[in-house]
Amino acid sequence: MQNAGIAALGLDWRYLAFEVHPDNLRAAIEGAKQMKFVGVNLTVPHKLLAMGMVDALDDSAKIWGAVNTIRFEPCDGGEIRAVGFNTDADAITRAIREDLGTELRGAKVVLLGAGGAGRVAALKLAAENVAELFLVNRTVSKAEALTAEILTGHPKVSVKAAYPTGSVDLVLNATSLGLKKDDALPLDAKKFSLKQARAVYDMIYRPAETPLLKSAKAAGCRVANGLSMLLFQGAKALEIWTGKPAPIDAMRAALEKNVYGS
Ligand code: ATR
Repeated sequence: MQNAGIAALGLDWRYLAFEVHPDNLRAAIEGAKQMKFVGVNLTVPHKLLAMGMVDALDDSAKIWGAVNTIRFEPCDGGEIRAVGFNTDADAITRAIREDLGTELRGAKVVLLGAGGAGRVAALKLAAENVAELFLVNRTVSKAEALTAEILTGHPKVSVKAAYPTGSVDLVLNATSLGLKKDDALPLDAKKFSLKQARAVYDMIYRPAETPLLKSAKAAGCRVANGLSMLLFQGAKALEIWTGKPAPIDAMRAALEKNVYGS
């Protein structure tokens, strides 16, 4: 995806993957800086660790408490500094808007999952001024703790650690249920019917159609999987490095080819 984007922009850059042990992350970031890398992306578990290893944090990293993108930039005196960004949270809402056409302001949303991804999604949805948020998680205490966190920061949003009654605009899956073909649905069909939902977004993108998306389609919902989240967080990173709009179509085509082989 990134190399396709880089090529479409006509840049003489390369995007490469390196496996780095968490114990060596600081040395790897310093090495990349000294070798004059333009930037790096980081994934789990480095996103949290890198918060304390960059020279400056963009607001996006401060808000979400994680760094998935670093830009190395020249500063006074010829020094180079590492600036940490987070492009994951914005990608969630952009993906929902573009893939499903769901307007989040004022929406009624069921969020499945209160782990790392679920927490960021819930806080981002609250920041987008959804009207009502229903948090569902296997470990109920985590959904309750997240409910309290959202109520503190976003008192205007109605948040409940429960299933809704009536219809909702969106169901968003942020659990890992669905990664395996024979996984159960991440919701309790006795407490909530997918017929109550207008649209369903699953953060999982492999398999392309999770049991949740299959059931949602059968129930008549608009559906989308998490590939667009992956695309948009990467596109934003490329924009941070280049200062130019990302060539989305070229990046999407490369991503689909690499993930699905078509
Ligand atoms: P991530 O960073 O991807 O969010 P995580 O923090 O481990 O990973 O969160 C995984 C999410 O999937 C959690 O909401 C988890 O529920 P618990 O908080 O109860 O652990 C959910 N999950 C994982 N396996 C599950 C299962 N078999 N049934 C229901 N929920 C599950």
